[in-house]
Amino acid sequence: MTKKMNIVGIGPGDREYLTIGALETIENSDVLVGSKRSLEPFDYLDAQMVVLEPRDIPKTVKKAVSYLDDGFNVTILSTGDPGFSGMLKTMQKLSPKTKLNVIPGISSIQLASAKLQIPWDDANLITIHGGRAPTEKLLKELDENKKNIVLPNRHISELAEYLIDHGYSPEHEIIICEKLSYPDEQIVHVTLGEARQMEFGYMCIVVI
Ligand SMILES: C[S@@+](CC[C@H](N)C(=O)[O-])C[C@H]1O[C@@H](n2cnc3c(N)ncnc32)[C@H](O)[C@@H]1O
Repeated sequence: MTKKMNIVGIGPGDREYLTIGALETIENSDVLVGSKRSLEPFDYLDAQMVVLEPRDIPKTVKKAVSYLDDGFNVTILSTGDPGFSGMLKTMQKLSPKTKLNVIPGISSIQLASAKLQIPWDDANLITIHGGRAPTEKLLKELDENKKNIVLPNRHISELAEYLIDHGYSPEHEIIICEKLSYPDEQIVHVTLGEARQMEFGYMCIVVI
């Protein structure tokens, strides 16, 4: 019987948010595939580590599938949950015939909601991750009657500027959750005008 490719959500970062099921699957793998950040916590394991570089994703997925075809237990690590801007969509697109075993993880969106005490069944979940710049699609998706929990593209300052340029008040308050679960986590409440002048790293969730 053909093996299934595991796609495992490893949570937002800190090990306390890794589920037991995820850990068991990871520990039983011959090959682990993931970004440097997702592989690092498991470097104590003997598994073969395959680094997934953003520019090499199709090539690396092919390599992962060939390990699977050779009979190895292969696990793709996806930060947060694989189903939200994660590896699930990527695998379905790049290797539609590969059978998958998806193990959910705690998404950065969920952790942001918990920290800010936002019931996320009422929230508007949006991702512009991977996009080069905010576009009109974002403006259409934002709902002024709801908490919009946004997985942004690289630059928060650019997002703030875009919103101001498209009719949002510079006084409009947003919340930026950076590096959730890491020791240097920070959650800041700022206006769009302030956010336009600020620098944040790659790992942020923004509530608008
Ligand atoms: C490739 S996406 C993966 C999202 C992931 N599937 C999830 O459910 O959280 C990576 C983006 O998720 C967000 N992210 C992931 N981990 C985070 C964390 N610990 N704190 C804040 N944002 C995080 C950042 O916006 C980052 O650029």
